[in-house]
Amino acid sequence: MTRVFSGVKPTGHLTLGNYLGAMRRWAEVDQHGSDALFCIVDLHALTVDHDPARVRRLSRQGATLLLASGLDPRLCTVFLQSHVDEHTRLSYLLECVATDGEMRRMIQYKEKAGRERERGGSVRLSLLTYPVLMAADILAYGADEVPVGDDQTQHVELARDLAVRFNHRYGHTFVVPKATPPQVAARVMNLQAPASKMGKSEDAGPGIVYLLDEPEVVRRKVMRAVTDSGSEVEYDREGRPGVANLLEILAACTGGNPESLSSVYHSYGALKKDTADAVVEVLRPVQARHRELCADPAYVEGVLREGAEKARAMARPIVDTAYRAIGLLPAHTDAHPEKPAVLNAAR
Ligand code: AMP
Ligand code: TRP
Repeated sequence: MTRVFSGVKPTGHLTLGNYLGAMRRWAEVDQHGSDALFCIVDLHALTVDHDPARVRRLSRQGATLLLASGLDPRLCTVFLQSHVDEHTRLSYLLECVATDGEMRRMIQYKEKAGRERERGGSVRLSLLTYPVLMAADILAYGADEVPVGDDQTQHVELARDLAVRFNHRYGHTFVVPKATPPQVAARVMNLQAPASKMGKSEDAGPGIVYLLDEPEVVRRKVMRAVTDSGSEVEYDREGRPGVANLLEILAACTGGNPESLSSVYHSYGALKKDTADAVVEVLRPVQARHRELCADPAYVEGVLREGAEKARAMARPIVDTAYRAIGLLPAHTDAHPEKPAVLNAAR
C-alpha cells in the first residue's frame, strides 16, 4: 500500500491556504486507500523566533484542526513530531549526506533569512538545516508520496536527492518519495497582496482567512480582496493575479474549474460574493467539529499518544537500518546476535 506522509508547522493559526492546498485533500483522499501519517511538525516551529507558550497552544490547536478537517485516527496516524525521536535521530545522519551549498540554495531559506537579516535579527542555524529535518520526517517512514502545496516541492526534491545519495553510498535504505501537489489551489494567495502566498506565519492581516474566522470576518476579508484594474472577469494568473486567486478559491471550494467559472461572472462584486459564501460553507463543518473536539481535550490527547506510538513503531526499524548502514555500531550486540564478532574485534 502507498505510504503517505505530510505535516504542518505550528507557527501560526491555520489558514484557508493550508486547508485548500493540503489538509482537505489529506482528509478526502489520502487517508483513504493509503497508509497515511499526518504530523504537527512542532520542531520546525523552533527555527524562527518563537514563544514557547504559543508553540504549545498552536500545536494543540493544529492537531485539533487536523481532526476537525476530517482526519480519522482509525484510518490514518496523527501525531506530534517531537513525540517521536526518530525524526531528529535521522536528521543528523542526513546532515552527513547533504551539503551546505544545497541548503543555502533553498528558496524558502533565502527568503526567510533575507527578511530576518533586513530586520537586523540573527538567523537560527536550524533554519538552514530545516529541509534536512523535513527530509528525515519523510524518509523515516518510507513515504512514497508527500501531498503538499507547491511551495514545498523544492524541499521534497531535496528529500529525494538525499534518499538516492544515501542509498547509493551506503546501500538501499530509503524509499525515494515524490511530492503530490493538488490539482487546484496548490497556492492560495494573500487576498490583499496576491503576489505572495496566504501564509500563516505572517502577521495577522486582512488578506489572510483563518480556518477559525467567524463567517462575518471571512465575508469581510473576501469582499475587500484586492482586484485588478479593469472590470472583466478573466482567468489570467500573471496579468490579473487578484481575480485569478478568487477564481481559484471559488473553484477549489465548489469543485469547479477557474477557467470556466470566469465566463460565468461579469462583475468583481458578484465573484467576491459567491467566493465569500463558498468559503463560509467550506469552513462551517470544520468549525463545528472543532468546537466539539475542544470540549473533549482528553480525546485529542489520546489520539496523539496512540499516533506517536504507531509512528514510532514504523520509523524505528528504518532509522535503525540507516544507523547501521552508515557505519554506526548497534548499542546492544545481543539484539543482533549474527554480528557479535565486530564489537569484540574492536575492543
Ligand atoms: P505550512 O503552513 O507552511 O506548515 O504548510 C502546511 C501545508 O499547507 C503545506 O503542504 C503547504 O504547502 C500548504 N500550504 C500552506 N500555505 C498554502 C497556500 N497559501 N496555498 C496552498 N497550500 C498552502
Ligand atoms: N516544511 C513544511 C511546510 O512548511 C512542513 C513540513 C515539515 C512537512 N516536514 C514535512 C511537509 C514533511 C511534508 C512532509 O509546509
